[in-house]
Amino acid sequence: MGWRMSKSYENLPGAAGKARFFRPSRYDAAAIFAGSPPSVIFEDEVFELENISAAGAGCIKRVREDEGAVPAGASGVLRLTQHGRDLFLGAARKVRRVAGPGGISAGFELEANRFDLDWLIRENASVLARARSMAAPDLEPSIAYKTFCADATAFLGGYLLRIQKYVAPIEDRCSQDERNEIARDLAAAAEGEWLDLIARGNELTAEIHNDKQKRIAYKSYTERTVSQILMGGPGWARCYYKPAGYPGDYKIMNYGYEQKPEGETVAEKFLHLLGMSASRFVITRMETVAGLIADYAHARRKYAGEEFVITSVGAGPARELADILEETPEDVRWRVNLVDQEPAALDFAFDSVAHLSERDRITVRGLNISFREMLRPSGDNGVFVSNDVIYSSGLVDYLNPLLAQRFVKRLYDFVKPGGQVIIGNVNNLATGRIWPLEYVTDWSLYFRNEDEMRAMARDIPDAKVSVVSDPLEAVYFLVVEKPAE
Ligand SMILES: C[S@@+](CC[C@H](N)C(=O)[O-])C[C@H]1O[C@@H](n2cnc3c(N)ncnc32)[C@H](O)[C@@H]1O
Repeated sequence: MGWRMSKSYENLPGAAGKARFFRPSRYDAAAIFAGSPPSVIFEDEVFELENISAAGAGCIKRVREDEGAVPAGASGVLRLTQHGRDLFLGAARKVRRVAGPGGISAGFELEANRFDLDWLIRENASVLARARSMAAPDLEPSIAYKTFCADATAFLGGYLLRIQKYVAPIEDRCSQDERNEIARDLAAAAEGEWLDLIARGNELTAEIHNDKQKRIAYKSYTERTVSQILMGGPGWARCYYKPAGYPGDYKIMNYGYEQKPEGETVAEKFLHLLGMSASRFVITRMETVAGLIADYAHARRKYAGEEFVITSVGAGPARELADILEETPEDVRWRVNLVDQEPAALDFAFDSVAHLSERDRITVRGLNISFREMLRPSGDNGVFVSNDVIYSSGLVDYLNPLLAQRFVKRLYDFVKPGGQVIIGNVNNLATGRIWPLEYVTDWSLYFRNEDEMRAMARDIPDAKVSVVSDPLEAVYFLVVEKPAE
């Protein structure tokens, strides 16, 4: 796929959503139009495009009042324009108009034809690429940040130059194993300095991260410099282009868990491995959550053969299950619910469990639904009621504070007295991963500090709340314990 089509976690539906009623896929406009979607003009009203499907568009007008605007239900002419050029013109109906804190949002449904999304994306891209004003955002990063990007680029370039000079001429004669070995040696030699650079990038970007205009400018600068080099590594490219349609798909997660060289050439493998040292936190995150769950079982265990019921939301490959089995006594059994909107992730998890030597101690059920289904009052949610532990790593990182808080409260209501909710979320410390994720690969997350972690449990007054860290100090875990009856 040549363009980036990214959906937000909040909108990933899972099978239940899809099975209930068919809707054409709706895409985040900023993501599929490379951060610069066309404007939407309906009659004389101008909107920002927020999301689009083949059949319609969701838009917003950043005003408080739109008196005199075309009312909901009315038909008219809808245009999509970029830099003065019409990309689409057709009959549409305004199906929705809702005033909210961010402005007035409106939904449009095409009446006669459909959007050719692939064509629109290409045409929008070609207009943008030719437009002169696109050259750079008005705001420039600080000299310190530009110097840092130059240092990072020179550091990477130095290794690539050595590879080009000494390895490339003999590369054809090397087997894959030999190439892997060279790449591993080079990445090991580079690792110390590379991790220092990441820490410096984290510090410099954490300072400006909450200023949206600066964040855009810093990201744009990083993408034009450091990212251009790193993108030669398959892991970096997958993180940046998000070919599954959303960030953090189970294949990306598995790259991080397996830490193997990927790509054809030594240069590609080397760059990929630098990404792997940056993503080692997925392993420590998984090990920490497994440790917390094993601790729970050790503390609560009353009799031989006891079974604990746990649920992982946004389970992905569910690698922690192997560790949980390993870290708990042989007579402890586990009943596990895995929730994920991606069927392929659940397939992978089931297959992995089937190959575990201790698979007789575990019963796994996969729920191909969105976490949003769990928020609804529904009999289908019975499987979560009275669970021992409900945990979620790498999902709440995508949810805004209000939704995150609602989600944690809901999980808390599900668990049994004495049970726990455990939430893993990337932090914003210098030891974390804010720079490589958000700035190098445009992987946007809520990088939460300790107070923001605790805030997720704010409206749960009776709970015992603590925040713990993974050993790399890249991820915080919120542990919310329900008092025993
Ligand atoms: C970053 S991965 C983390 C996976 C796993 N917890 C781990 O630590 O390896 C996030 C997972 O959440 C899933 N996901 C994304 N949006 C979701 C949604 N709305 N409902 C359920 N799962 C979702 C993705 O498919 C992906 O497998």
